[in-house]
Amino acid sequence: MTSIITGRRLARDLGEWRTDAPAYRALADRIRLLLLDGRLATGTRIPAERDLSGALDLSRTTVAAAYAKLRDDGYLVSVRGSGSTLALPGGRRGEHEPAGRLPLDFTKATAPAFPGLAAAFARAADQITGYLGHDGFDMVGLPDLREAIAGHYRDRGVPTDPDQVMVTIGAQHALSLVTRTLHSTGERILVEQPTYPHALDTFAAAGARLVALPVQQHTGWDLAQARLQFRRAAPSMAFLMPDFHNPTGLSMPVADREEIVAVAQREGTVLVADETTALLDIDRGPMPPLCAFSPNSANIVTLGSLGKIAWGGLRIGWIRAPQALLGQILRNRPAGDLGTPLFEQLVATILLADLPAMTANRAAGLRRGRDFLVGRLAETLPDWDVVVPDGGLTLWVNTQDASSSALALAARPRGLGLVPGPRFGLDGAFERFLRLPFFYPQDQLAEAVAILAELRDHVGGTPLRVPLQAVI
Ligand SMILES: Cc1ncc(COP(=O)(O)O)c(C=O)c1O
Repeated sequence: MTSIITGRRLARDLGEWRTDAPAYRALADRIRLLLLDGRLATGTRIPAERDLSGALDLSRTTVAAAYAKLRDDGYLVSVRGSGSTLALPGGRRGEHEPAGRLPLDFTKATAPAFPGLAAAFARAADQITGYLGHDGFDMVGLPDLREAIAGHYRDRGVPTDPDQVMVTIGAQHALSLVTRTLHSTGERILVEQPTYPHALDTFAAAGARLVALPVQQHTGWDLAQARLQFRRAAPSMAFLMPDFHNPTGLSMPVADREEIVAVAQREGTVLVADETTALLDIDRGPMPPLCAFSPNSANIVTLGSLGKIAWGGLRIGWIRAPQALLGQILRNRPAGDLGTPLFEQLVATILLADLPAMTANRAAGLRRGRDFLVGRLAETLPDWDVVVPDGGLTLWVNTQDASSSALALAARPRGLGLVPGPRFGLDGAFERFLRLPFFYPQDQLAEAVAILAELRDHVGGTPLRVPLQAVI
């Protein structure tokens, strides 16, 4: 399917694209970055030269030269009579692209496999013969696994019945099922700003209009703004990450949780709490999940996953919601998939039987990575503003004066993949921020910081051309 982007929309997504390079080149570089970090999809038809030159107040020759550069590098394909569409160069790399996978791929906030994973797979292999009369997949989840997940909530003080749990193929799948069920095209969804980029992708695909709830690096959730947005925008859904929020690593204070639950109930908004990162506690201690404030509320849906705590490759997540809502989700599910594989569910059940072993193992690895990266940044880039998170997988760093998009572009030829700040926000916000994952070997963390320190003096920053603000 080809999507089309208008000149005005592209101009907005480009943000502050100008650098010290000639304008045509800087423009081509920024379009390439939007494609590489997923803000523009391959197959998107870009605006006619005239349209973009008008939107950017730039000569048509410059836009034509930028398009020609993208075409030469294989990022743009022109079909006579039907415009030009974005592409990734197959076989033919752009002159800036290193061959193969990036040696330092810091684009993902992932963790290595939990060391006990192979043993859990082996035990599941022993058990599988007892299940071979079964279909091998199912839509709600194995009873033992649903009970183990329900037990995880009960251990956190939230009465939960296995009937309130559906097992999914990871949390991203859970979010897509919930969005498809709760949201109708054109309705509003409230998202934290910044937020998890693939949630933005899900909401864009659902035709949502997004409203922002600011989460500030130093002060956290802006409750005054939340109250206003719930009342004024009447969102159908609010997507929140109260525990070790991705990308900031912050935790929502207990009083804020209680108030957000109360406001959402009053305004009829369904809170979707994504707890994918909630088990990644380094030195915080337990906090009540949003559903603890109203365990049987029809207005609170909780998503979870073993992707970060055990392994991304396991693809096991879940939805905790009232039974009636799970029934609706179940009816919607076959349109997208026919169930969660059984073998992975057996592995997940085995792993959840000893959750404390996984959380303790993760805490130790995360602490080592976090402290090392924080120390290196303090030594090497002391003016970058880092708030040390007490959990999660990433640092959300304010580079003060560097453009994160320019840094991300300059880092790729050095083999370092980065996701620039605007990928986490609406309308080009967070150009000064970088998300840096810290669960990597120390030599890789050190090398990434050394590259950033070197590049930062070369890419510099440019003054903001437009005030960046959240949209209603
Ligand atoms: C906040 C958040 N939600 C959902 C996901 C997707 O999780 P899963 O791998 O279980 O689909 C991620 C993965 O990075 C995440 O960070």
